[in-house]
Amino acid sequence: MQERLQELQVEAIAKVEAASNLKELNDIRVAYLGKKGPITEVLRGMGKLSAEERPKIGALANEVREAIAQKIEEKQIAMEEAAVQEKLAAEKIDVTLPGRPIKVGNHHPLTKVIEEIEDLFIGMGYQVAEGPEVEKDYYNFEALNLPKGHPARDMQDSFYITEEILLRTHTSPVQARTMEKHEGKGPVKIICPGKVYRRDHDDATHSHQFTQIEGLVIDENIRMSDLKGTLEVFAKRMFGEDREIRLRPSFFPFTEPSVEMDISCKMCGGHGCNVCKGTGWIEILGAGMVHPNVLEMAGFDSNKYSGFAFGMGPERIAMLKYGIDDIRHFYTNDIRFLKQFSRHEG
Ligand code: DAH
Repeated sequence: MQERLQELQVEAIAKVEAASNLKELNDIRVAYLGKKGPITEVLRGMGKLSAEERPKIGALANEVREAIAQKIEEKQIAMEEAAVQEKLAAEKIDVTLPGRPIKVGNHHPLTKVIEEIEDLFIGMGYQVAEGPEVEKDYYNFEALNLPKGHPARDMQDSFYITEEILLRTHTSPVQARTMEKHEGKGPVKIICPGKVYRRDHDDATHSHQFTQIEGLVIDENIRMSDLKGTLEVFAKRMFGEDREIRLRPSFFPFTEPSVEMDISCKMCGGHGCNVCKGTGWIEILGAGMVHPNVLEMAGFDSNKYSGFAFGMGPERIAMLKYGIDDIRHFYTNDIRFLKQFSRHEG
């Protein structure tokens, strides 16, 4: 019996050493130490032993059992440790490798131009105002001296939602809204950037949706010369100090007198080329002195207050500034086009 136990110990320990995974190890545990295992069987046969031998064999059996159990335990710990090491090795990251560059987007060229113009006017003491794109007919037309049936409404083909609600055709309604908020008290000095909508067929120079920036100044003693000086500063900062401006008489229902501003053509230095269509001048914006009717409708006393207003299209300005030949480039999201305005390489 003693021999049998010693044999079992040697055998079991050899198997434990040879085991290559936790399952095999568990099988060995069950086989040798379980209730149906050979050691239990030996113990069961102890009844036949003499009273002298019985405790010895009993003690030996326990020793064998403990030796096997301990060996299994050691092996299990070693296996678990090896598994952790293997996992660590497999998941090792080399922190010294250079990182992958993150792709950064860039501002849309229209956003750039709008922000540049905003900054320029903020620097002259203006505030930025905004208004709704879904607008009342009243603010879009009536409050701007364009009553229902006025022929000049045809200059701006509109998307009507109901009889009284439309998508604003210009940013001028923000003028009317802002003046109303001031309750007849000056000064008002704002610019209003935003999207506008017209029922136009899209082509290289037209889009059914585009952007505008409106300007409005109201105070006592505001004169045409203030408008001219302001526009000159704007044109030179935006397009270069060597640019000349010229004001041509024009018509807008909300201003009287009304003008359009041209800048001298940089391409040909004013001699005439295909960019300026041979005239030496490029049209940039519409402007004028706020019509007394517009002042009065918004609650300002037109005997006390006067003002000027202007409206321009950032698309047109961006096209001139960057030499873009088709307005649709701004809206078709071609990444190759947009990337050209990035400050980053690649
Ligand atoms: N609202 C005009 C348009 O969309 C542009 C404009 C012209 C705005 C003259 C003004 C202005 O404020 O004074 O064609």
